[in-house]
Amino acid sequence: MNNINFVSVDNIDDFAVISADFFSDFLQKNDNPLVILPTGFTPLPFYKEIVKRYKAGEKYLNKFKYLALDEYVGLCDGDYRSFSSWLGREILDPLSIDIKDRIIFDSDAADIDKECKRIDDIVSSSVINLAIIGIGENGHVGFNEPKSSFSSRTRKVFLHEKTIKANAEYWGGIDKVPKEAVTLGLANLKNAKNTLLLVYGKKKAKILKESFCAPVSEDVPSSYLQNQPNLTVIGDEDALAEIMI
Ligand code: GLP
Repeated sequence: MNNINFVSVDNIDDFAVISADFFSDFLQKNDNPLVILPTGFTPLPFYKEIVKRYKAGEKYLNKFKYLALDEYVGLCDGDYRSFSSWLGREILDPLSIDIKDRIIFDSDAADIDKECKRIDDIVSSSVINLAIIGIGENGHVGFNEPKSSFSSRTRKVFLHEKTIKANAEYWGGIDKVPKEAVTLGLANLKNAKNTLLLVYGKKKAKILKESFCAPVSEDVPSSYLQNQPNLTVIGDEDALAEIMI
């Protein structure tokens, strides 16, 4: 296993501040980096803190290019439920990130495989300077569900039942959650020069143990992180409980 920097925080305010400090420090040391940002509930306090600092005058906080991690398939351009709209509302619009600096999936592309190839080509010819990611309770990263190949690239996937269930609240009911999505692959994510994993709450404790304390396996996609260079994990004591003994 590579050296991993585990950072344990006491409460949600510290989670936001310490994650924002990490990002702020990164942006000051890297010139216009390409950055992956995750969706989910976990990063919300971090995004709020970044937006607060930006509005208070830390203007360098928008000096990055955004690369989408994943997206649902079949949503019209501008659908408020799409990940690109969601991230737009939560962080990219408040930071005034230019549209040309957002590499996002066309959820409604007529040929979704071609769309994945377009994104994959961009990713292959770029350097991902920082991948900020979350983790699903089944170990999914982006929408790389269990049994995704570690050599997988950008592609269309079918969501697991557990993921559909976990996202039901966001969609207002399990039947409304799309069954298909697109995601960067694990091979793409493995190429990131730096990775920041954000985890919060008791419900992530079990999967973190499986990710970091068991052999690396495609049954647990997030276990690729064991061999990831320059990995920082920021989480609260509940989430980190089973790995920080
Ligand atoms: C979704 C996203 C993932 C995210 C995960 C965890 O399924 N596709 O990128 O990491 O949810 O979400 P949460 O932070 O709400 O637990």
